[in-house]
Amino acid sequence: MISPIPLRDVPTGNIFRKGDVFVLFGELFGRGYANGLINEAKKSGMTIVGITVGRRDENNALRALTNEELAIAEENLGGRIINVPLMAGFDLDAPAGEPTPTDLLGGMTLKSWQEDKLDWAHIDKCREVGVARFRNSVARVMSELDGLIPDGANAFFAHTMAGGIPKVKVFLAIANRIYKGRGERFMSSRALLDSDLGKLILMNFDEVTANTFQYLIEGSAAIRARLEKSGGQVRYTAYGYHGTEILIDGQYQWQTYSNYTQGQAKMRLEQVAEAAWAQGIKATVYNCPEIRTNSSDIFVGVELSLFPLLLALTKENGGDWAEAQWQACRPLLQEGVTLEDLLQKIETYNTSEVMAGYRNFAAWPMDNSEALADRMIGTSEEITQMHHDRKELVVGHLSALVLEGTGPLMFYETSHPAGPVLWLNHDIIARQLNLMHAQ
Ligand SMILES: NC(=O)c1ccc[n+]([C@@H]2O[C@H](COP(=O)([O-])OP(=O)(O)OC[C@H]3O[C@@H](n4cnc5c(N)ncnc54)[C@H](O)[C@@H]3O)[C@@H](O)[C@H]2O)c1
Repeated sequence: MISPIPLRDVPTGNIFRKGDVFVLFGELFGRGYANGLINEAKKSGMTIVGITVGRRDENNALRALTNEELAIAEENLGGRIINVPLMAGFDLDAPAGEPTPTDLLGGMTLKSWQEDKLDWAHIDKCREVGVARFRNSVARVMSELDGLIPDGANAFFAHTMAGGIPKVKVFLAIANRIYKGRGERFMSSRALLDSDLGKLILMNFDEVTANTFQYLIEGSAAIRARLEKSGGQVRYTAYGYHGTEILIDGQYQWQTYSNYTQGQAKMRLEQVAEAAWAQGIKATVYNCPEIRTNSSDIFVGVELSLFPLLLALTKENGGDWAEAQWQACRPLLQEGVTLEDLLQKIETYNTSEVMAGYRNFAAWPMDNSEALADRMIGTSEEITQMHHDRKELVVGHLSALVLEGTGPLMFYETSHPAGPVLWLNHDIIARQLNLMHAQ
């Protein structure tokens, strides 16, 4: 990818209707991006089907949901869930009786991890076990799903999986420093990536965030062939991240959160879509803006790029509704602090030399630096302090808006997608929101 390919026109076509099936490939969380797509699928009358990643028992063995857990998850989704655990990654997999990668990491300490070495031949065996487990489970899911999609229907597969951080104490401490630390607590993301621990984490990210999309496309080949033969169409979407264009100095400019440690995996996800597309399969990765969700909360400062959405709402023909969004944010701030003050702080931050140096698309994903951590984490803390309540933030409101806007953009574009990788920037999201709310 030499430069981002933005979606510039609000799409309106829709091939999906009652009787068609929407399959969510990942679990649904309250603030998660997938809610936007599901809302649209429901509005079109589609049948919703979901999956589960399963749960771990006290011995870390993967199990399906209990009846009670299943009922809650189905109620939350508004559709049936195929109860075969689809936890991706190999951090807790190993040949029978042998240690898992998580076991191997268990001995690492904050003092030793940069020198600690891993047995890569063994890790590779664990990876093979994990991949085989996942693909077998996908095959079981697909055979159940096959019975739920009638001939001639359209199917929409929405991949949302991302993750793969092994659950080991030492990494929690490292992550707290890399993503939240500045000054004495700063830690370089490069140090992580150069260590064996970091290399293992990147491999696991590849599995969870990217390769699962490939397994989904391969695993559903028979369903795709049957539906296409009987007059139906099949689409695949996935959520990417590769920076976002936001308003800086009055212009839409590409910027990114750094260090986005999953960046390589997200580029691999793009390649999966490109390879499928080259074979005539309509698979599209939508690179989405930074919002606050269960998955992104750890990255302090990721939310800073969200504030200029308010400016975009006004710029993109914003009327009363756009103005109402400004008004909804004002009471969240401390007395004596205006939204204009806050946006000015963001503008100063974005136009600073440090941040400008990170707007380098070709070098993405760039390492963090002390100067970046100082500026980004410092600004994030100052902005949070401008609010009344740390739990009720302007970015909470704006995250919900982005999620709402990406829903119809992804859903309608996917009827006739322009390509395998598309960016949803603040301009198109603001335009979509203004259009929806003007009606
Ligand atoms: N939050 C953001 O700022 C942002 C920005 C751009 C793209 N995205 C992408 O959007 C997608 C949804 O993320 P979200 O931020 O809405 O958060 P979320 O926490 O709601 O979703 C994360 C998803 O990953 C799945 N998942 C996590 N670990 C898994 C594992 N080991 N195996 C299988 N599935 C696993 C979860 O079931 C869930 O469906 C992700 O692909 C994410 O990278 C997020």
